[in-house]
Amino acid sequence: MNYVALYRKYRPDTFDGVIGQAHIVETLKNQIVHDKVSHAYLFTGTRGTGKTSTAKIFAKAINCINNKDGNPCLKCEVCKTLSGNNMDIIEMDAASNNGVDYARDIREKVQYPPTTGRYKVYIIDEVHMLSQGAFNALLKTLEEPPAHAVFVLCTTEVHKIPATILSRCMRFDFRLVPTPVLAQHIAWVFDKEGKQYTQDAVNAIAVAAEGSVRDSLSIADRCYTVSEDCLTYDSVMSVLGVSSRQKTAELARAVIANDTAGILMSVNQLVSEGKDIARLTKDLATYFRDMLIAKTCSNAQQILMSPDDVYKSIKALADSVDVNKLLYAVDSLSRLEGDLRYSISPQILMEAVLLRVASSSGEVDYQGLDRRLSRLERQPSNVNADTLLIVDRTNANSIWSGVKAEIDRLGKPLLTAVWKEIKPSLSGDDFVVSCNEGEYNLISTEYLQLLQGIVTRLVGKQLVLQKTTTVTTQDVDKQLRQLGDNVRFENKTQK
Ligand SMILES: Nc1ncnc2c1ncn2[C@@H]1O[C@H](COP(=O)(O)OP(=O)(O)OP(=O)(O)O)[C@@H](O)[C@H]1O
Ligand SMILES: [Mg+2]
Ligand SMILES: [Zn+2]
Repeated sequence: MNYVALYRKYRPDTFDGVIGQAHIVETLKNQIVHDKVSHAYLFTGTRGTGKTSTAKIFAKAINCINNKDGNPCLKCEVCKTLSGNNMDIIEMDAASNNGVDYARDIREKVQYPPTTGRYKVYIIDEVHMLSQGAFNALLKTLEEPPAHAVFVLCTTEVHKIPATILSRCMRFDFRLVPTPVLAQHIAWVFDKEGKQYTQDAVNAIAVAAEGSVRDSLSIADRCYTVSEDCLTYDSVMSVLGVSSRQKTAELARAVIANDTAGILMSVNQLVSEGKDIARLTKDLATYFRDMLIAKTCSNAQQILMSPDDVYKSIKALADSVDVNKLLYAVDSLSRLEGDLRYSISPQILMEAVLLRVASSSGEVDYQGLDRRLSRLERQPSNVNADTLLIVDRTNANSIWSGVKAEIDRLGKPLLTAVWKEIKPSLSGDDFVVSCNEGEYNLISTEYLQLLQGIVTRLVGKQLVLQKTTTVTTQDVDKQLRQLGDNVRFENKTQK
């Protein structure tokens, strides 16, 4: 028999098999029990947390004729038919079918009634990949769906979904699954497979999966093959790349000891072995965070879920450092994670940050603060710190000015041509910025994340980026000319 990957073999087929998403599962089950099924749902959240699986279960559950507390019975004729190839559960991947023709095709076919059960269910995965035209066509369908149609749209990037679509869907946010729940799930899978393991091994897999169930099962799969009999912590570590882990710990030690040569050599060695700077920064930040937990929490070992000896070495190292220095390290490294995206020489940036952390005691540098304060006092026009206070949450333009001021302060402006075209508005709890397709495409995902971060800090709203009118050839021509005229980066607040 062909080998089936664990994450495919253990795809849950009832709601009760979905872990870590009780808030969603309970609501869906209730809707089914009380016959209150809506016609459009949006499932969003990180990769591998159960969106597609839940959509498939839901599709079966609303059709099952022998429903058990909202769960599909899996035994009735309908459940059986819908488990195989069938015409009523239509799964499509918007990543490969993103054109307007496809959406029009749905619009036509959705009119035909289901062949097996009560509902015809369209599960559209990666829905953020649809083109503007396809979204428009889909919108028409969502506005006047036939009574037998249910749409489940799944996406990891909800900010790319037009507000018009969002407002027609019932939205469910899938959460990262807590580490202990993941560990329990992996142990359950290993038990089913008759695989022996130690608790430390299972914990290590769960920690490495960072909240994604699919990742946890993929790692478990890789670990499977390396150990014939009982899976141990060490074999999991070797699969995850223990050598680089030890080296991360060495680098952390060099930082704590303020050993300049050691820091530069460690970084160099890791980079020459092909370790990515962004990944290294993340690992190192995690290591310092673990030390901080070990130093300050009484139930640290429980939180970190590490085996005794690993925990002891982290704890011993943590005890040799001042807590302020650890805080300073975590803070600097998290900031560095963001800054790296915009840096053209990430290694130099990282080395500079590490040397600064190494030489600092973590204590507040009052003299330095004093110098900075008096410099600020001399240049009042440069003070942007209070932008956070003067934004009117109920006014889109006011929010947008705040965002722009913050962008300026961070020194990360967009092309002038893009700024000029953006129109802010408010829709419920969303802060919507719309622009033409040309500008839309110039805004990268990373940049959007930066904007989202600012909007969250300013007013705690969800940012939605929207494409406005369909672009005509003349538009494109006009924009290209404008771009040609205006290619320069904005450095000042627009007056
Ligand atoms: N909440 C969960 N409970 C149980 N198993 C899960 C859960 N989430 C994911 N899995 C496991 O991971 C596999 C993939 O899950 P699924 O396709 O539902 O994730 P997804 O959220 O749609 O991911 P993506 O964003 O990558 O499409 C499933 O087959 C299952 O083995
Ligand atoms: Mg999916
Ligand atoms: Zn059934």
